[in-house]
Amino acid sequence: MVWKFKYGNPFETEAVVGSIKETEGNPPFGTLSLKDGFCYQYELSKNDVVYGLGEAVRGINKRGHCYISNASDDPNHLESTRSIYGAHNFIVIAGEKNFGLFVDYPAKLTFDIGYTFSDILEISCQDANLYLYVIEGETPYEIVKQFRKMIGRSYIPPKFAFGFGQSRWGYKTKEDFRKVVGGYRENHIPIDMVYMDIDYMQDFKDFTLNEENFKDFPAFVSEMKEQNIRLIPIIDAGVKIEPGYQVYEEGVKNGYFCKREDGSNFVAAVWPGYTHFPDVLNPEARRWFGDCYRILTEQGIEGFWNDMNEPAIFYTPEGMKEAYEQMRECAEDENGKVSVFQVRETLVNLQNNRKDYEAFYHQVDGQMVRHDKVHNLFGYNMTRAAGEGFERIDPDKRFLLFSRSSYIGMHRYGGIWTGDNKSWWDHILLNLKMMPSLNMCGFLYTGADLGGFGADATRDLLLRWLAFGVFTPLMRNHAAVDTREQECYQFEHVEDFRHVIEVRYRLLPYLYSEYMKAAVFDDMYFKPLSFEYPQDTFAPQVEDQLMLGNEIMIAPVYTQNAKGRYVYLPEEMMFIKFMPDGSVYEEKLPAGHHYVEVALNEVPLFIRGGKCIPVAETAESVAELQMDTLELLGYSGAEYLLYDDDGNHKDYDNPENMKWMKKLS
Ligand code: GLC
Repeated sequence: MVWKFKYGNPFETEAVVGSIKETEGNPPFGTLSLKDGFCYQYELSKNDVVYGLGEAVRGINKRGHCYISNASDDPNHLESTRSIYGAHNFIVIAGEKNFGLFVDYPAKLTFDIGYTFSDILEISCQDANLYLYVIEGETPYEIVKQFRKMIGRSYIPPKFAFGFGQSRWGYKTKEDFRKVVGGYRENHIPIDMVYMDIDYMQDFKDFTLNEENFKDFPAFVSEMKEQNIRLIPIIDAGVKIEPGYQVYEEGVKNGYFCKREDGSNFVAAVWPGYTHFPDVLNPEARRWFGDCYRILTEQGIEGFWNDMNEPAIFYTPEGMKEAYEQMRECAEDENGKVSVFQVRETLVNLQNNRKDYEAFYHQVDGQMVRHDKVHNLFGYNMTRAAGEGFERIDPDKRFLLFSRSSYIGMHRYGGIWTGDNKSWWDHILLNLKMMPSLNMCGFLYTGADLGGFGADATRDLLLRWLAFGVFTPLMRNHAAVDTREQECYQFEHVEDFRHVIEVRYRLLPYLYSEYMKAAVFDDMYFKPLSFEYPQDTFAPQVEDQLMLGNEIMIAPVYTQNAKGRYVYLPEEMMFIKFMPDGSVYEEKLPAGHHYVEVALNEVPLFIRGGKCIPVAETAESVAELQMDTLELLGYSGAEYLLYDDDGNHKDYDNPENMKWMKKLS
């Protein structure tokens, strides 16, 4: 059962597809005030759990803190961080009453989930112009499934995107890329993708290639492809202001950039220096920007990552002017009214400043819409531009696409990666906790920077993180410039890395099949334990294990120097470890709490009672995987419904893609 309420004059975000009849009046649960903006309150019962919010810090159970939907380029993913890159306004309250709430509102929105008062859930925002959806269902899982039907089918990447990828900010030349590919191929560590960060561009200009380093780019793309490697370039939101640069010239000529109130093009500094933002909320400009991807697809590129699309702003000329004035005042009179601390504060606040987001406009249906009113839609629509562009470029082909910033609705066009995390043990756990929440909001193709983006990774951290990353649809090692090199071959005992990544490829038939079933049937790939075991009273407390698909549970090790971990089994399961010598350790464990030992070079998982999963021989790339020699692991007599297809086309609904397999002994 879904209720849709309309308050004021909402912006059409197109998060929800299809039409749902509107209901007049107040939501069936909780109370609503429209006096000072929008304020919804619900009194939580003692044992209620609150799931959701997609990309956010803290637990799978969101109760006990305050979160703000306000897409932010913030590399500090701390417990206290209230906003990161995504704005995913969907929560499910589970307990005394089970219901979901989706607030379709593209500006800043606050979820106070038992923070101010421990039993009060309060959702509030400034303008009462929004749609509120209330979804009732038997269980939280049922509610999520209804919601997923409302928002449309999740993005499906090509099959190669389920391979392993290496990235680093700082690869500049063909030689740099060849070295990375060589490092993997020579060590026989499987790999399918190498990511091109901003240095491949000429002066950080979108859709260009460094003229010196990437002469004859199509030949280089082919050279890589011959080794089963896809190059995946980054595209940033800001278009460099540079007369003569084609993308800039076209954007200016056609009025496709975001404008200031006076009609001039808004200017913001990002990596290239001063840029304009493409007005991706304007359908015409979106179409143009999406067509720009053709410049690279025509050279053989089959995937992209969209970045800096909150959109991130380092500073604006207006902000800079004020800062200079303050600095001058401070320098001229050291004991005067402007202190050094004030100057420092001003400089820090140049970045992603609220005032700048209030200073530019989008053109939507002939109306000027101030950016801050629709702020959370920028990354969504930049990625939509690309996704719609690919539909025109080659409607039958699947392209790899993921974004940093997002809003619900974007899940139909691309995946996301969870941005600039750190090489911290804590961030392995944060990565795990985000996954089911993201799946609830439709984002299935997701993953974090394995090994951590900021700070220096250690060998053990990377191995443990990879052993979790084996299970995330996007499995990519990425690091920031000036951090310790963290490609797998940089560390001692490279065979351990080879083994862990080989397990990813062995599991690919299962992981791909579960991903595709989740996408095609609007289901979840990662679930909290409580979604599968609603009667189990302990399950809602488990914050460091996940159900993956319908057959397995995962429980990665995420603490340094640990030799294993405690794990909770809601039912009997078969404990499996992929051992470094290629063998598989199996042990049936009864329901309950256990301590399991897991060495750094082993990959553990748990097969649910009575189930089995397909595994392949390993391969060095997805293209080399042998699908006709699958073996089944798990319980004798169990059956498994395998989904498979060619991985490139969109023939998802063909019943021939599914077949039953049975484990005989
Ligand atoms: C941003 C991205 C990061 C990338 C960097 C340089 O910080 O989140 O992944 O490496 O920009 O492009």
